[in-house]
Amino acid sequence: DWVMGDYISEAVEHIRKQVGDEEVILGLSGGVDSSVAAALIHRAIGEQLTCVFVDHGLLRLNEGDMVMEMFARNLGVKVIRVDAKEKFMSELAGVADPEAKRKIIGKEFVEIFQAESGKIENAKWLAQGTIYPDVIESAGKGKKGAHTIKSHHNVGGLPEDMHLKLLEPLRELFKDEVRELGVALGLPREMVYRHPFPGPGLGVRILGEVKAEFARLLQCADAIFIEELRNTIDEATQKSWYELTSQAFAVFLPVKSVGVMGDGRTYEYVVALRAVQTQDFMTAHWAHLPHDLLGKVSNRIINEVRGINRVVYDISGKPPATIEWE
Ligand code: XMP
Repeated sequence: DWVMGDYISEAVEHIRKQVGDEEVILGLSGGVDSSVAAALIHRAIGEQLTCVFVDHGLLRLNEGDMVMEMFARNLGVKVIRVDAKEKFMSELAGVADPEAKRKIIGKEFVEIFQAESGKIENAKWLAQGTIYPDVIESAGKGKKGAHTIKSHHNVGGLPEDMHLKLLEPLRELFKDEVRELGVALGLPREMVYRHPFPGPGLGVRILGEVKAEFARLLQCADAIFIEELRNTIDEATQKSWYELTSQAFAVFLPVKSVGVMGDGRTYEYVVALRAVQTQDFMTAHWAHLPHDLLGKVSNRIINEVRGINRVVYDISGKPPATIEWE
């Protein structure tokens, strides 16, 4: 619409004035905020923007390829993809504690991002997808206020010794405005309206020690769950169950239980499904998904994901449970 069109041209003008002919780097996570920031800045300064996408191997199924497809191929954005799966897996080996895992993932992420962006010559700006609620939140915590650098890994920001000026073109926008802007900039609607995904990714959805094999099983199970949520329309509202839930995902439980398949006995892992409805993510209800939907997801996971022979549904509210299992 014309209002958004005007907003875009003003924002583009502003970014061009700020940046001049200098180079900008941006850490692309696949999340909505960094994606919309990248699309907007690219609209303004094109080739002067370089994105760094650190793939830690704990993203959703095919997410890395989707990010590259959307930005590098469709929008023509310069994106450096860093395949850091093995590095993350080796750093995480033997670590079971949730907070220790978060710290390792956050620290690795920052180190790799810094090393890669250090190779980009003449970079003077670090772009961030900081949105208005982040500004409020960090001011409220009495941190560095306006200059707190957002990190989607909750590690307290990228090191200050990067000596870069901050470019935060979404600072005045609320989430729904960021989404509208993303659609207006040509990002796919289903990407822009996705459920939130935690920075440490599947690292906190694989309980205990993270292993590449567990991540692969979980990615497959989660993709089936999300696909069925998207494809199942609620008659009363004519909305999909993906839209009717605020966040939904699969969790990998490193517990083996017995099952039967054909003439044989199986002894394999368990996956839990979690789907919640919430306004603010501070409190949440478990979603009353239709039993047919749950049944179909369970059958598909058990039949299609070799290594999983049992699926359970999480019926815990927040509080006392949290949305994530770690
Ligand atoms: P909990 O599990 O605390 O989650 O009820 C509330 C919301 O926060 C997300 N979450 C995280 N996001 N880094 C993030 O970026 C994290 O370490 C993290 N832990 C939880 C969670 O997905 C939910 O939306």
